[in-house]
Amino acid sequence: EKGGHDYFMLKEIVEQPRAVADTLLGRVGIDGTLTLDEMRLSPSDLRDIEKIVIIACGTSYHAGLIAKYAIEHWCRIPCEVEVASEFRYRDPILNRQTLVIGISQSGESMDTLMATRYAREQRARVLAICNVNGSTIPRESDGVLYTHAGPEVGVAATKTFLTQLAACYLIGLYLAQVRNLKFGDEINAIIAQLARMPEQVEKVLDTVEPVRRLARSLSNSTTVLFLGRHVGYPVAMEGALKLKELAYMHAEAFAAGELKHGPIALIENGLPVVVVVPSREGRGVLHDKIVSNIQEIRARGARTIVIAEEGDEAVLPFSDELIEVPAVPTLLQPIVATVPLQVFACELALAKGNDVDQPRNLAKSVTVE
Ligand code: M6R
Repeated sequence: EKGGHDYFMLKEIVEQPRAVADTLLGRVGIDGTLTLDEMRLSPSDLRDIEKIVIIACGTSYHAGLIAKYAIEHWCRIPCEVEVASEFRYRDPILNRQTLVIGISQSGESMDTLMATRYAREQRARVLAICNVNGSTIPRESDGVLYTHAGPEVGVAATKTFLTQLAACYLIGLYLAQVRNLKFGDEINAIIAQLARMPEQVEKVLDTVEPVRRLARSLSNSTTVLFLGRHVGYPVAMEGALKLKELAYMHAEAFAAGELKHGPIALIENGLPVVVVVPSREGRGVLHDKIVSNIQEIRARGARTIVIAEEGDEAVLPFSDELIEVPAVPTLLQPIVATVPLQVFACELALAKGNDVDQPRNLAKSVTVE
């Protein structure tokens, strides 16, 4: 049942190319037209949307943070993202023109369920992104986009995260098409690249062996920091969450630009710092800024573990360890950049003798508030 692997988590990590392909299946036409039937929100409903609010917990929240960058860029609709447990207690402003997207793998997280229920009471339109067919959140939503990742047994979300990202991209691109915004070259090019993501993930999986070795060499560390910018920031947050829940280590993510506002004081000799570098495509300035962030922390003794796209020579001189991922458009990069971080956390946890499928104190689906 573990497909020859010792743990479900390992199996679920390698299943990711197929899982992402299944999310896209039947939704991306050969000519680039998207069909999202189960959305049950008509194009005219979607044209009326003035604001998008994404609510979710944990890893699903990180998918939401990434979706914000994509949706605002492609659709020009203001998009907020909030952890579900905070959302309804702050009197949020919602109306018929608000699209609330609840992201939940299980469809049963009580925090997300209560938040989406509240949103519907306020007359917002609610769309669920969910992996479990017929679960409570999609049943109580106006529309749903199932991720079709298949059952995920490991407590740590892996393939369901990548497929949530794919689903978020589909929604963003679909909204852009329906609203006729930027419809044309950029959107079509991205759709073509999205369709190729399963093979890109496969390439990452083919090259993760050095990440395993690196993780094992760090099993005695007490802290690992993660830095990112743009979509690399939520990826860094996801890498830190994986390490906490699996390896029971102190792990924290910062927006690289925030370093100088405080966290840089944490840097000391030998501290491992993972840096997620944005693709160079279209993001030249950001890329250069993060390269100088890497220089800054390295000058203060950090051991830099850099995730960058292949052939990125600018990072080479400052990377103690370089993890290369395929070159893809920046907004889609989280799909490839997250995979080494999953492997890193899993391997480090295994080196410490932890059960990666059943980490202590955690449940797969959190059905209490
Ligand atoms: O089922 P959900 O997506 O609603 O679950 C949300 C979080 O509990 C979940 O993502 C959790 O953070 C994962 N175990 C992280 O790996």
